[in-house]
Amino acid sequence: MKTAPSAGLTPYIPFDRASGVPFYTQIYDGYRMAILSGRLGPGQRLPSTRTLAAELQISRLPVLNAFEQLLHEGYLEGKVGSGTYVRDCIPDEVARPMRLRRAMPPTPKRPFVVTPSPRRSRRDDGSGVFKSLPALDRFPNETFARLTRRHAGRLSEDLLAYADPGGYAPLRDAIAAYLRTARAVDCDPDQVIVVSGSQMGLRLAAMTLATPESIACMEDPGYRGARSALAGSAASIAPIAVDSDGIDVAAIAQLGERARLVYVTPSHQYPLGVSLGVSRRLELLGWAERNESWILEDDYDSEFRYSSRTLGALQGMDTGDRVIYLGTFSKVLFPALRLGYLVVPHELIPRFIRMREALDLFSPLLYQLVLTDFLREGHFARHLRRMRAIYLARRNALIAAIREHAGDVLTIENTDAGLHLVTFIPEHVDDLEVARRAADHGLFPAPLSACYATAPRRAGLILGFGGANEQVLTEGVRTLAGLVRDCRQP
Ligand SMILES: Cc1ncc(COP(=O)(O)O)c(C=O)c1O
Repeated sequence: MKTAPSAGLTPYIPFDRASGVPFYTQIYDGYRMAILSGRLGPGQRLPSTRTLAAELQISRLPVLNAFEQLLHEGYLEGKVGSGTYVRDCIPDEVARPMRLRRAMPPTPKRPFVVTPSPRRSRRDDGSGVFKSLPALDRFPNETFARLTRRHAGRLSEDLLAYADPGGYAPLRDAIAAYLRTARAVDCDPDQVIVVSGSQMGLRLAAMTLATPESIACMEDPGYRGARSALAGSAASIAPIAVDSDGIDVAAIAQLGERARLVYVTPSHQYPLGVSLGVSRRLELLGWAERNESWILEDDYDSEFRYSSRTLGALQGMDTGDRVIYLGTFSKVLFPALRLGYLVVPHELIPRFIRMREALDLFSPLLYQLVLTDFLREGHFARHLRRMRAIYLARRNALIAAIREHAGDVLTIENTDAGLHLVTFIPEHVDDLEVARRAADHGLFPAPLSACYATAPRRAGLILGFGGANEQVLTEGVRTLAGLVRDCRQP
């Protein structure tokens, strides 16, 4: 049987129903490019035509035609209907990675400036309705426990000693395969650095890249975890406005050469939920390359998208090696796992590894071993598929409840992805006060205004829907609507 580290995952291909390009052509081109660029490796199994058609929300015919063509041209082998694989023997000269990397410049010597971390703001951990949590009640505990027992019962001396600061090598392989396949990230395993969740990844990036004279740009409104990580670095922070197309790149460019680092959530802006448009992406990448600045891409919940197809990662569009990609298992698995990863340009690997060692050497190895098997044996892909259906139902229930019970006080936009919705509340209602009162009812919406670094701050409530079932969410919306009405100025 053929296996691959990315067992069972559907490879990402660009696909736009509205583009006017025939579906067959988009699928054929997408897979062909993925194979030629090396993102899909020899022996890798493709999803069934039925699965792919369902995911793309199209009929099966264009998928069948595209696969038949790829088989015919020798990109795939097997038989449509009973398993198709990327062919082992695509000639080297065709299959070499299409993007040429720049020669690696020597690592510049910069002083590490380590400032004390600010007090960590209260995080959404623990249970509670509207908190930013995945469906912990649906986690496959038994499988995870079985894999944990498998490894805990046979830790050799080797595995009990100090380990690689970059992470357990097979886990780095599996993460690289997953990212290449599902997120169109262009990387090899050496570029993957396993960290203890995104928060550590952010801190690691901030401490490695920020210098006293530099400016770190942040989306405004933005993720408070990122702001606290950047605030603990040597750089000063510049809040940059976000509109319906994402961060305002022209405003970044106006800051000039001192802008060394930009933190962005391009797939699903936190908290507003917009995605960074294609022209903004190109503008941002072009600016970073010209200015030799770094982009920190936080791709925290892009696994979950409901009615449209996501763009691939910004990192995969970057031809100048300016993007540091950040991912986490907190949303797809569970936050207490404390495992995430960075994908860093080759040039930065030694500096990141040195800083990672200085921070905490390496992440606990037992969970790295368990996670490796979870990914390689297909449990991860199965879990993702199940979770997508659960979150779709929960998100639909939340939207329906808002429309039915809270239409006068909660306005929603950008509901297509992730595990939270942002809702706007009427002017003059204090979202901090609503959040305080909600907590007394066991409801924990996050106040939107707290995500802004500068005025004007829009008031609203960020509603996590991953962690509660449909009935609980509906009840929660009813209660919350009443609280917002009570807080409305007479
Ligand atoms: C924007 C963003 N990035 C990252 C994370 C995940 O953080 P961590 O991996 O530290 O648990 C979250 C969690 O809520 C988030 O909202």
